[in-house]
Amino acid sequence: MDTLTSFSFATVPTILSSPGATKALGQELRARFPNIRQVLIVTDQGFLRTGLADAPTASLRAAMFHVEQFADVIADPPEHVIEEALTLARQHEIELVIGLGGGSSMDVAKLVAVLAASSQSLSEIYGIGNVRGSRLPLVQIPTTAGTGSEVTNISIVTTGSTSKTGIVAPQLYADMAILDAELTIGLPAAVTAATGIDAMVHAIEAYTSKHKKNPLSDGLARQALTLLSRHLIRACENGGQDLAARQAMLLGAMLAGQAFANAPVAAVHALAYPIGGIFHVPHGLSNSLVLPHVLRFNAEACAEQYAELAMIVVPHAEGSVVARAEALAVAMQQFATITGLPRTLRQVGIAASDLDLLADDAMKQTRLLGNNPRPVTRDDAHALYKLAL
Ligand SMILES: NC(=O)c1ccc[n+]([C@@H]2O[C@H](COP(=O)([O-])OP(=O)(O)OC[C@H]3O[C@@H](n4cnc5c(N)ncnc54)[C@H](O)[C@@H]3O)[C@@H](O)[C@H]2O)c1
Ligand SMILES: [Fe+2]
Repeated sequence: MDTLTSFSFATVPTILSSPGATKALGQELRARFPNIRQVLIVTDQGFLRTGLADAPTASLRAAMFHVEQFADVIADPPEHVIEEALTLARQHEIELVIGLGGGSSMDVAKLVAVLAASSQSLSEIYGIGNVRGSRLPLVQIPTTAGTGSEVTNISIVTTGSTSKTGIVAPQLYADMAILDAELTIGLPAAVTAATGIDAMVHAIEAYTSKHKKNPLSDGLARQALTLLSRHLIRACENGGQDLAARQAMLLGAMLAGQAFANAPVAAVHALAYPIGGIFHVPHGLSNSLVLPHVLRFNAEACAEQYAELAMIVVPHAEGSVVARAEALAVAMQQFATITGLPRTLRQVGIAASDLDLLADDAMKQTRLLGNNPRPVTRDDAHALYKLAL
């Protein structure tokens, strides 16, 4: 580690990790926000159907909060979802926003908190550092163990019909994140697997991030991978009962989020976004489909770092640095196999004739590609999709 390298690190100031914590959400927030009355919960229909939003909502009401709910978030949220949530927030003069759901709900919650009290429009804040002023108080409660959005300064919006565009700004860090595994206990195995692999990718890409890799994000990425790799299969196979595995997954995803908020993700995500945007493949699965191919491509530039991570994910791996880097790629592919996720682009309905479109779109993800340890040309992107086909 080069200790002379300059870096800065930021994260959410308060993190509460406690199974069952959201049953007392009202008391928790009343103690922190004594003068607030109007609260908006941002969630989606899928989570609402679990009934798990009932207890936190009742607890907020018992603590004298007036609770409005926006439950129309859809996966990979398009702009109109944010506008609708914003209209509701303004109508009810919302004073505090709670994201309760997966990355999609939390990303919408961030933008509502930022825009509700602002004269800026959504289109003005795309990109890095374009948010002006402050935001409404914001509390994030993940119900998937994946994106780490509860501790990142990033929000991802589907713009137009297919493109995924990021907003990155310090105002997007929440005031508080609450990790409560009781909310993830009913998460279906396929969603658990895909979102868990997304979290592992955050850790891997943070650890090899080209410009902002730093000692804090390295430590977080390693700890995240330890937790995620040891508990992913348990959470998929016995997630309905195994609260310890579920809390470990939430913790791992959050730590990976802290890592990549400060050492950003790269080509795996750049290649995954078009798959999600154009073909509506869930974000974690999109990552998983291209992951082994990008790892092998990148190994030419960062085999040493992959070999270090292999010692965490596959501690029995032996041999040269290159052999251990390859063991990491194999191990990541095995997570997809064991958990029954699709392994090829064809399995999710993508054909050879789609690869040009995907490659063109991936090249637009310049924010992400710039972080990749090895430069990616358009030909490289096309070849990587072909390997994944
Ligand atoms: N902001 C960031 O830092 C960041 C990082 C990575 C990804 N993302 C974005 O996050 C989004 C993906 O988020 P995600 O993978 O968490 O999925 P998601 O939020 O889209 O949810 C996926 C599905 O899981 C269901 N679900 C969620 N919690 C559940 C529960 N506890 N029980 C049963 N069903 C449940 C939802 O209803 C939904 O159908 C994408 O838009 C992606 O681009 C953001
Ligand atoms: Fe991701």
